[in-house]
Amino acid sequence: MWVADMDFPAPKPILTSLHKAVDQGVLGYEMPPKALKETVVARMDKLYGWKVKPEAVVAVTGIVSGFSVAVRVACSPKKGVLVQTPVYNEFHEVKNNIGIPQLNAPLIKHVNGNILSYEIDWDVFEKQVKKAGMFLLCNPHNPLGVIYSRKDLLRMAEICIRNNVLIVSDEIHSELLLDGSQFIPMAKLSAEIAKHTITLIAPSKTFNVPGLFCGFAIIPDKELCGRYEKEVSHLRLHVSSMGLFAARTAFSGVCDGWLKELRRYLTGNRDFLVEYVTEFMPDVRLTVPDATYLGWLDFTQTGIEGSPYEFFLKKAKVALSEGKIFGKEGTGHVRLNFGTSRRLLEQGLERMQKALKSV
Ligand SMILES: Cc1ncc(COP(=O)(O)O)c(C=O)c1O
Repeated sequence: MWVADMDFPAPKPILTSLHKAVDQGVLGYEMPPKALKETVVARMDKLYGWKVKPEAVVAVTGIVSGFSVAVRVACSPKKGVLVQTPVYNEFHEVKNNIGIPQLNAPLIKHVNGNILSYEIDWDVFEKQVKKAGMFLLCNPHNPLGVIYSRKDLLRMAEICIRNNVLIVSDEIHSELLLDGSQFIPMAKLSAEIAKHTITLIAPSKTFNVPGLFCGFAIIPDKELCGRYEKEVSHLRLHVSSMGLFAARTAFSGVCDGWLKELRRYLTGNRDFLVEYVTEFMPDVRLTVPDATYLGWLDFTQTGIEGSPYEFFLKKAKVALSEGKIFGKEGTGHVRLNFGTSRRLLEQGLERMQKALKSV
């Protein structure tokens, strides 16, 4: 229940497109075709009514590569990268990419019963943004599962633009919506915000093809897009042919029935997780994610000594993600991946509950 991929096979149409490529036999170099960029553009229009031009779409070898390139465009040893902790562990690695400062704007944690929620600390955000060249936003948020509201997005964008800070919005989880959650891309909010934003999307999480390493940066500002493409080219970041084939099928709409069913199943898993923990592990606090297949569990009130990650690995034989990798606020927490069958989820939770009883 650790790394963020799912136990489910990818949708049939994607597998068929990959089989077709293999059967055809020649697996040569492929450039991202214009038709693929048009498919990405059409998906943004269909999902959000967001109009972007195919020229604004740059294929990248995944989203971590995508923001690692952006750091090179926007940051310097004097202008660091701003992140909202606790956050996806790879966000903590980008500072090492070119030797820049990482600026943390920790989110404020609230507890209501056993339910956790998080909100932005605007004073800290305002203070830290002044030292940044780039704000790396995670929306929906990994590991918290939060989808930021329009109001919060507008306020974050206004502060960044006022301070001449580039917004890089990692929206890799944006199609993994639970219940009736709605999502708005940051750059869709206004033409001014779009001009200052690089949006990163991919079919990888949604359709469970992350090992194919293909994503897209959407950069409406021509000059910024040119600088970004140059950096991609300098680094020789070529997307694999299989990733390109899969992405075209994934974003074409033919897998949307599968996706609808997936969301329904994941919503059921999320509800099962929250109900199970509330009933059988009442000292454990957790989030109710709006999106993603990631739960965030707080064991600080349970009496476990040391890391709950180590505890459950040893005592329950359940592998979760260590909370500390998401930032120091994650101490005493774990991330739980519920992108699996209900049966396995239940088994994992039962083992955890039994181990907790021994504390
Ligand atoms: C927020 C976020 N961004 C990026 C990634 C990884 O993207 P990629 O494998 O395309 O580099 C993940 C994977 O868990 C993620 O959660």
